[in-house]
Amino acid sequence: MARHVRIGLVGSGFAAHFHLASYEKVYGEDFEVLGLFGRSKDKTAHLAKEFEVPKVYERFEEMLADKEIDAVDLVIPNFMHVPLAVKAAQAGKHVFCEKPLTGYFGPASAPAGTWTAKGFPREEMFKAAVAEADLAYDAVTKAGVTLCYGENWVYAPPIVKVNRLLAASGTPILRIQGEESHSGSHAQYAKRWQTAGGGSLIRLAVHPVGAALYLKYEEGRRRNGKPIRPVSVSCEVANLTWMKSFQDEPRKHMKSDWVDVEDYGSILLTFEDGSTAQLTSSDTVMGGIYNYLHVWGARAVLKASVNPNTACQAYTPDGGYFKDEYLVEKTESKEGWSFPSPDEDMVTGYPDELRDFVGAVSHGRAPKSDLMLAHDVVVVTYGAYLAAEKGARIDLRPHLRK
Ligand SMILES: NC(=O)c1ccc[n+]([C@@H]2O[C@H](COP(=O)([O-])OP(=O)(O)OC[C@H]3O[C@@H](n4cnc5c(N)ncnc54)[C@H](O)[C@@H]3O)[C@@H](O)[C@H]2O)c1
Repeated sequence: MARHVRIGLVGSGFAAHFHLASYEKVYGEDFEVLGLFGRSKDKTAHLAKEFEVPKVYERFEEMLADKEIDAVDLVIPNFMHVPLAVKAAQAGKHVFCEKPLTGYFGPASAPAGTWTAKGFPREEMFKAAVAEADLAYDAVTKAGVTLCYGENWVYAPPIVKVNRLLAASGTPILRIQGEESHSGSHAQYAKRWQTAGGGSLIRLAVHPVGAALYLKYEEGRRRNGKPIRPVSVSCEVANLTWMKSFQDEPRKHMKSDWVDVEDYGSILLTFEDGSTAQLTSSDTVMGGIYNYLHVWGARAVLKASVNPNTACQAYTPDGGYFKDEYLVEKTESKEGWSFPSPDEDMVTGYPDELRDFVGAVSHGRAPKSDLMLAHDVVVVTYGAYLAAEKGARIDLRPHLRK
């Protein structure tokens, strides 16, 4: 029987806001966002007022001690995901965790803002990041709670449709190609490895990586009840905005103040059935956000354009005519032809993601984007950093769970 689900949300930044806005679009589930905890008291109070959330906690532990809370939604910087997820699981709470599950954020002894990833051995990072992902995996399974992994691409309508067409056609997937790129993150934490856990790969590529893994899991489950898992990875990373020719440009139309993180990466992933995926990310792409996934099968070719897509197209000779009307994420200008997103949260998959998470807790079932996906993405991404450093292919199999 379905039960009423009460959520405590942690965080008060950019993603906390779109989570709260997206919960308002969730239909057909019995739930409420009951409480908030954020580091900034002002921002948290403001969010509680804007979204009519009844409780505000002073400390995370207070939220965990509240017997009314069933699940915590972690919308906080990457380095905090696992420590808080482990505490929540130990307190018997279900966990909704934003992407990525975790990463490597420098030696524990390094004071904030001091450590640099330049020249730091990727082997050490890989081992530590996977060990951290293992901590979360073990805590969640031991506590018998559910971890829902915030990979919105799994829920983005174009990708949901691609998955349905894959199922309908029964095609084997031969090859996947995907990308998430734009002109650079707005967030300060993104500039440094110590706060972000890496550059474009960990912030952006995790989306197409997550979606590609999910589509291969689904293909395997349809065929014989077993997900098709990744086996090895190779990778190239670069700092394109550190090139002298870019530095010499008089005007910079993209973010270029990266401290020690890459602004480009491309992963080549091989699956246990021999199929491949090429998944790319970059912070050096102008003209809006590029989120797409193409699938080449034996019976069908499928192309999901998460963003931009042509559901709405606009032209104006003067961007001023559109005034403050929002068009789409990360465009530099409203002038000329543009591709306004009709409902960006919906196209990006956020409300359907949260609906699945709430439904998973309410009905006691697994979410589509789950703990295995969360863990695999960490192994693939940090395996990719190691592969790029070594110029070699890395065997992922010893590090995968279940
Ligand atoms: N799925 C997506 O498309 C998507 C998009 C953006 C961000 N995210 C994810 O959301 C998470 C948050 O990113 P963001 O863009 O909102 O960052 P942000 O910097 O805008 O907000 C982070 C929030 O965490 C709070 N915080 C920081 N340290 C804290 C502490 N010690 N205790 C309590 N709160 C603390 C900050 O005050 C802030 O409110 C990240 O994991 C990011 O990867 C996902």
